[in-house]
Amino acid sequence: MREKMPYEEDQLKILFTPEQIEEKISELGKIISDHYAGRELIMIGVLRGSTYFLIDLTRKMHIPFAIDFISISHYSEQADSTGVVRITKDLDLNITGKDVLIVEGIVDTGLSLGYLLRNLKTRNPASLKVCTLLNVEARRIVDVPVEYKGFDIANIFVVGYGLDYNERYRNLQFIAEFNRPK
Ligand code: IMP
Ligand code: MG
Repeated sequence: MREKMPYEEDQLKILFTPEQIEEKISELGKIISDHYAGRELIMIGVLRGSTYFLIDLTRKMHIPFAIDFISISHYSEQADSTGVVRITKDLDLNITGKDVLIVEGIVDTGLSLGYLLRNLKTRNPASLKVCTLLNVEARRIVDVPVEYKGFDIANIFVVGYGLDYNERYRNLQFIAEFNRPK
């Protein structure tokens, strides 16, 4: 059994079990493999929330591809809706002329992803699409195209399966609603 974590009983409410997550990722892996068969695919994980998802997703795929990672700073809570973020760790691979799939853990306001799409587009990939495990349509500020998504969720804060609260809870094997301490 996993270790107990502080606040667990009263603060975590399971939304998706490991079985539900695995089933969804198997479906996505198959769909994405079919869509990109015969192409030069680069899968880009957005650090750090997407890591568990990216790794499990790639293990469900049956076509060749490359993996790379990018890290961006988050806009501050006080920021306006311009979505000013910056790259804190850039890609190692050259994506020009390649089919690029950005893999995210969660798309919320869309501000980070909007920035990322604008930035990567200037490098002239052959195609640029997005796959996210969780999608919060109700929170959207920037209209970002999401080609592949796992689950739509309501406007709640979630942790687990890569997603954190203050860098904690990423290693939970399920995804849970988290009531942030006041
Ligand atoms: P966006 O720019 O508002 O779409 O937010 C994207 C980033 O915010 C994600 O990549 C996560 O790192 C973080 N984030 C947004 N919502 C949640 C949540 O409910 N739990 C944990 N992290 C979140
Ligand atoms: Mg975070």
